[in-house]
Amino acid sequence: MRNITVIGVGYVGLVTATAFADLGNRVMALDVNPQKITMLGSGKIPIYEPGLQEVVDRNVNAQRLSFGLANDEGMRNALRQAEFVFICVGTPQGVDGEADLQYVRAAAETIARTMEHPLIIINKSTVPVGTGDWVANIVRESQPHPIDFSVVSCPEFLREGSAVRDFFQPDRIVLGSTDRRAADEVAQLHLSLRAPS
Ligand SMILES: NC(=O)c1ccc[n+]([C@@H]2O[C@H](COP(=O)([O-])OP(=O)(O)OC[C@H]3O[C@@H](n4cnc5c(N)ncnc54)[C@H](O)[C@@H]3O)[C@@H](O)[C@H]2O)c1
Repeated sequence: MRNITVIGVGYVGLVTATAFADLGNRVMALDVNPQKITMLGSGKIPIYEPGLQEVVDRNVNAQRLSFGLANDEGMRNALRQAEFVFICVGTPQGVDGEADLQYVRAAAETIARTMEHPLIIINKSTVPVGTGDWVANIVRESQPHPIDFSVVSCPEFLREGSAVRDFFQPDRIVLGSTDRRAADEVAQLHLSLRAPS
């Protein structure tokens, strides 16, 4: 059992959080959208995805999965328990056609402000090559005092409509990091899925 925080409970974040909880981990999933958190708190999921509601219910009832607001207080509470933090926020296409990284930046800044011990930060949002270093720089520059961390890229390939099956039966898991040990730890989290890598 590992302790995981997931930032963003959209499609990718909710499936990721629920699936890691179902694998036996303790997961806290946070979002800046209070309506989504209220809805999840009352037992309903804000997206339609076959099979997901049942897995959410099972893991909430087993107290492996919980939800909260991604303000500084909520993040500090969640990260106090966490070993891993997944960034799963949106990266909408900007006017120039490039991914708009403002939400990834905001998530990285909040992690930096609220972390109190070393963490492995995993980026699942769809970002351009090289964004791992960019996230690492934001975290380093936004920390009030230096605390160790590693950044691992783990891009998501799930498809809406078959997201639960795609998570549990992946055809591949891609990991990238300049920190071999951190990448190995993230690989361990996925080990029971027995995916090719
Ligand atoms: N949906 C898919 O099928 C799919 C598949 C593969 C990859 N992706 C990628 O995964 C990422 C997430 O996609 P999605 O479809 O889950 O997006 P989404 O828009 O459904 O959800 C993103 C969530 O992040 C929250 N958020 C934004 N800023 C935040 C912050 N600072 N702190 C906490 N929460 C914050 C939003 O409120 C929202 O609930 C994107 O980069 C997307 O391109 C999506």
